[in-house]
Amino acid sequence: MSISPASSHAGIVTRDMAWWQSAIGYQIYPASFADSNDDGIGDIPGIIGKLDYLAELGIGFIWLSPVYASPMVDNGYDISDYRAINPIFGTMADMDRLIAEARARKIGIVMDLVVNHTSDQHPWFRAARSDRHSPYRDYYIWRDQPPAKGTPADIEASFGGSAWSLDPQSGEYYFHLFAPQQPDLNWANPALRAEVHAMMNWWLDKGVAGFRMDVIDLIGKQPEAGIVADGPELHHYLREMHEATLTGRDAVTVGEAWSATPTNAPLYSAPERQEVSMVFQFGHVTQFWDEKLGKWKPKSIDWPRLKATFAAWQQALHGKGWNSLFWGNHDLPRAVSRYGDEGEYRVTSAKALATILHLMEGTPYIYQGEEIGMTNAGFTSIEQYRDVETINFHRIQLAQGVAEADFLAGARANSRDNARTPMQWSAAPHAGFTRGQPWIAVNENFLRLNVELDRADTDGVFQHYRRLIALRRENALIRHGDFRLLLADHPCLIIFERRLGAECLLVVVNMSRQETAIPTMGVPSVQGRDLLTGKQVSIKAGAKLKPYAAFALRC
Ligand code: NOJ
Repeated sequence: MSISPASSHAGIVTRDMAWWQSAIGYQIYPASFADSNDDGIGDIPGIIGKLDYLAELGIGFIWLSPVYASPMVDNGYDISDYRAINPIFGTMADMDRLIAEARARKIGIVMDLVVNHTSDQHPWFRAARSDRHSPYRDYYIWRDQPPAKGTPADIEASFGGSAWSLDPQSGEYYFHLFAPQQPDLNWANPALRAEVHAMMNWWLDKGVAGFRMDVIDLIGKQPEAGIVADGPELHHYLREMHEATLTGRDAVTVGEAWSATPTNAPLYSAPERQEVSMVFQFGHVTQFWDEKLGKWKPKSIDWPRLKATFAAWQQALHGKGWNSLFWGNHDLPRAVSRYGDEGEYRVTSAKALATILHLMEGTPYIYQGEEIGMTNAGFTSIEQYRDVETINFHRIQLAQGVAEADFLAGARANSRDNARTPMQWSAAPHAGFTRGQPWIAVNENFLRLNVELDRADTDGVFQHYRRLIALRRENALIRHGDFRLLLADHPCLIIFERRLGAECLLVVVNMSRQETAIPTMGVPSVQGRDLLTGKQVSIKAGAKLKPYAAFALRC
């Protein structure tokens, strides 16, 4: 799908000029975005009603979290029919209208492709478990005994417990890396792969702009050998998929790959390999998790480490692949709560984070609500949570002796529900998200933090995102310049240069609550107009940067 004129230059479509290299992605978590029928759950007509808002922001495509038929054990990441829409979200006619209405605004719809697993209610799994000789049996992964403790196949599921569950109907154990209701597909089966390709083509023929591929680095797994991520067949499956579906189409694909490193990422996104446009990588997230308790015991952010991670990714993929850029998504805490300051400096720190992210090389993604600086949920009791992962780990960790208060502190920082509270549109009841009862509580701060208020403020977060998006559109330097980190060891100043030919951009950000002076060595003296505010600024040794100040100047 060609959305932007940037995809063709003098009649030649080049990878370098692909439309998604200058577009901004915006993730919608449908249940929490906008409710049109007052059942308390966001829906597709609700999204259609907000397309003008998204067009005003300037985005190029929407990554739509799953809207397919699903029993909703994992909020739609458990699909029971890839070609049907869950009635709580609307109808296929609504979906077609969304694709058309978005296209009319030059916005592509990127579907969430969840093919590491299906729902246990998918007809393939129902057939598989009802008859050991069904052709669908081999679409899934089975063994007759649970693995002995400590053997390679003894794998733990991401949502807790063993990854092998007994299917009482057929008397065998099936493999699932997530909930037991999410059986893993067996990608070694060519018929299964062909079904997935056909389904992808069906959606592409409908006019979707591409796919976000859920945990795609897991499809090459070999559980019996203890291999989960990055299996030996992974890249073969991705190339085959590309050939069967994406060749000759101008689509964007982004593979979620928690195992990706700067070293192996070019394997996915190098143009000559024809696998995916880019991956979502998580080094900047997981390095601040506890070695034992993981996300439930987060460490505080160490900026020199975070800067080194960004620099490694920027350098590894420059000219060799393509980066995705993101702070948050539906599985992660709110950016401003995790990396910025959700109190006094909420607006300034949200803008500073956006400046850092949007001025690197790659395709930036905005998670719904980030563009107004929405914050973590602030839940204080387990009853407020809805997420299967949080609820399971609450039970598991308490049984292991973790104190309730400690678990709740971890969940308050890192539960996936932090990002899933309803979009705060206005100061109306339930933040204008619904006139019904929302499925998950609205953040209490909606009276002072909502779209209506923020969008009207020229110094607000929304207008800052608009300016950053426009800047990227207008400047090849931002889209394609190289990246050089300055002051790598400084504890709170994030300073980098971008260069393209003779052009140079200097980005200077103070990620701290303290006024901070620029050191005497390591930063060039630059005076000029800040590209984001139009104000004159002088960057030089000794100059004081206010808390969360952020500038971008030509150098
Ligand atoms: C990653 C998705 O982002 C997450 O929400 C989901 O629970 C798992 N994959 C399983 O599909």
